[in-house]
Amino acid sequence: MTIHIGAKPGEIADTVLMPGDPMRAKWVAETFLEDARQVNEVRGMLGFTGTWHGHRVSVQGSGMGMASLSIYANELIRDYDATTLIRIGSCGGMQPHVALRDVVLAATASSISTPSSTILREVNYAPCADFGLLRDAAARADAMDVPTHVGGIYSSDTFYDERPDLNAEMVRHGILAVEMEAAELYTVAARHGARALAVLTVSDHLETGEALSSADRERSFSDMIEIALSAAFG
Ligand code: ADE
Repeated sequence: MTIHIGAKPGEIADTVLMPGDPMRAKWVAETFLEDARQVNEVRGMLGFTGTWHGHRVSVQGSGMGMASLSIYANELIRDYDATTLIRIGSCGGMQPHVALRDVVLAATASSISTPSSTILREVNYAPCADFGLLRDAAARADAMDVPTHVGGIYSSDTFYDERPDLNAEMVRHGILAVEMEAAELYTVAARHGARALAVLTVSDHLETGEALSSADRERSFSDMIEIALSAAFG
């Protein structure tokens, strides 16, 4: 057990999917895994372990934002020996060609700062996805015919952003989408020798103001989870 995860040693798989929302962790476990068992409920941040096509896999909620995700990523890797962490979540599209329901595979994740900035100090570190996971996820998305974009995203600290100039610079520099966790996930994973990837679904668009309904969300999130699981065991 760790401070934030109540699972016993051995109860968490090497591969962990990390949605921000703990209720989505439950839905993923119930919908995609066989023999899923709840292994964490500390602070309501639910975690489950089961199998997918015979492969052992866990799903652990990360909470919203890099400060929260950092706690779970550190404990999963350092205390439970997780080796592959895949964030599954939503993002806000930033480019005109990035549409609602599209999948975004984050090759890199820019940020203003992450919890790891206290370690990296003056270094403008470039958090990046594990290449093997990224390649396998892109191949699976292609085979499934899911509209998918591979490139840079922005991990923001503020959902209610009041810096339109900053978003404009992100757009100008080709950033595909915004979310709130991947940069720290990639940095913690790199620091401890684990593999990481963020597989995201576009749930809203910053330019057009469109947003998915909850029924639409569920349907399009299934593709993202299939892509994430296939990449993990590809
Ligand atoms: N996740 C989904 N949509 C988002 C947005 N617009 N900003 C930050 N995170 C998001």
